[in-house]
Amino acid sequence: MLPKIDPTTTSSWAKLSELSSENESIQKLLNDPLRVNDFSFDFDEFHFDFSKNSVSNATFKTLLELARECKLQEGIQSMFDGQSINETEDRSVLHTALRSNSKPEVSKELEKVKEFSTSIQNGEWVGYSGKRITDIVNIGIGGSDLGPKMVTYALKPYWKSITPHFISNVDAAQMVEVLEELNPESTLFIIASKTFTTQETITNALSAREWFLSNGGSNETISQHFVAVSTNEKAVTEFGISTENMFEFWNWVGGRFSLWSVIGLSIACTVGFEHFQNLLRGAKRMDDHFRTEELENNLPVLSALIGIWYNNFLHYDSMAILPYDHRLRYLPSYLQQVDMESNGKYIDRNAQEVSFQTGPIIWGEPGTNGQHAFYQLIHQGTKVIPCEFLAIAQPAHNHTDHHEKLLANFFAQSEALLTGKSKEQVLTEVGDRASDLLVNSKVFKGNRPSTSILIKELNPFNLGSLVAYYEHRVFTQGLIWNIFSFDQWGVELGKQLSKPILKEIKSGEDGSHDASTLSLMKKFHEMRN
Ligand code: F6P
Repeated sequence: MLPKIDPTTTSSWAKLSELSSENESIQKLLNDPLRVNDFSFDFDEFHFDFSKNSVSNATFKTLLELARECKLQEGIQSMFDGQSINETEDRSVLHTALRSNSKPEVSKELEKVKEFSTSIQNGEWVGYSGKRITDIVNIGIGGSDLGPKMVTYALKPYWKSITPHFISNVDAAQMVEVLEELNPESTLFIIASKTFTTQETITNALSAREWFLSNGGSNETISQHFVAVSTNEKAVTEFGISTENMFEFWNWVGGRFSLWSVIGLSIACTVGFEHFQNLLRGAKRMDDHFRTEELENNLPVLSALIGIWYNNFLHYDSMAILPYDHRLRYLPSYLQQVDMESNGKYIDRNAQEVSFQTGPIIWGEPGTNGQHAFYQLIHQGTKVIPCEFLAIAQPAHNHTDHHEKLLANFFAQSEALLTGKSKEQVLTEVGDRASDLLVNSKVFKGNRPSTSILIKELNPFNLGSLVAYYEHRVFTQGLIWNIFSFDQWGVELGKQLSKPILKEIKSGEDGSHDASTLSLMKKFHEMRN
């Protein structure tokens, strides 16, 4: 079981509050010749630089004390031991077991993934007309979409003979756009849903089946074109997919932590099983680090503690994820689910409402695109937004000039955030005759925090480590905030309310709703008629 300590009752919390009132500037902190070395870490092919954060040595020490007072290490152990730490759903949390080779049922399913993905890749598995499969469509949403999509695109250079597609939204516009490019003879659908009851996924799967049947497919050949990935055998069978074509996982795998399970089937089919396995190995490497490394050198812990400092003591309530690599363009949206669905909660593990901030708002875009959109606010806005910059040292293309420009921007942005530009510097640029308005508008205060992560190469192993780093950061923060990170009750109410509304939309009858919702629905009826 997880400890149930209200962090505000610890002595380190009180000490951190005091420290926050005398927070030193980052520029000043960096005058310490040991700072960069003390706050930078090499981990396999990664380099983490936390030195441009507003965290002094004293603060850092106290944050580590906070982790100890909240019994972080016991919590980590409970998770890896498979204790029922997802208490509100009465489940263990064992996505780490998917990459540890420790459970026979996992190895069995992995073997099935290996066989299947290999037969798709080498053309042994054919469609109804004997053509090899060229396109796979993953139909899923949330964790059954975002993880596989993010990883698949991050590993684009590893694609072989298969082009992947993803359908998630119940908005048919997405499905139509995907299907119009495809030939049913050479398309395989993977229906990915942990519960196999999710409205969006089932609706899309039924429409995909209809498309298949009305474009040359038949009931007899459905099994060559539809497979399912789920924990719910009954619902899969009822849908019409036989258990032979079903890949199984277990309720101790949370949706947003499931890409390592058979939910990753689309990844394995696209990049090949060997690379999928390397992804798991990379994650396992980070698991071992997280489980065994001392807190002061433990990367997910360090990053989580800095986030807590910002969120709870400096009141920076969001965090930007800024990958300087096109392949990582889906990382921010993937992390939104991992972080916000896990830690966006106000009830603590003692069933009480918390008296402090929990999960931050996670957002971001790849560089350099973001620079020409929202970086203005990051540099000169009234809010402080801690940034996490990521870059890959060796690109997978040979356009060296592009890559050098990309990396020049990666370095320049965190430098600009830190150093800013003083009034004196501006005056030397514009001359003393420039207006105050112009001069002041060109000043950058600087001292804006960032972390930089530099990775040698974006291969499956490193990607696995990176994703596990984020998973464990989220776990660490949730543990210290004394909340349960592995349920998601907050997504239920909207789903529940949409059911009667759907009936009313279909029947045209009025239901009982608040005045605003009723009026909106009435307008909708008028507009569509
Ligand atoms: O509604 C939220 C959620 O339950 C996520 O946690 C999950 O990843 C997603 O829906 C999809 O669920 P499923 O895989 O069961 O279709």
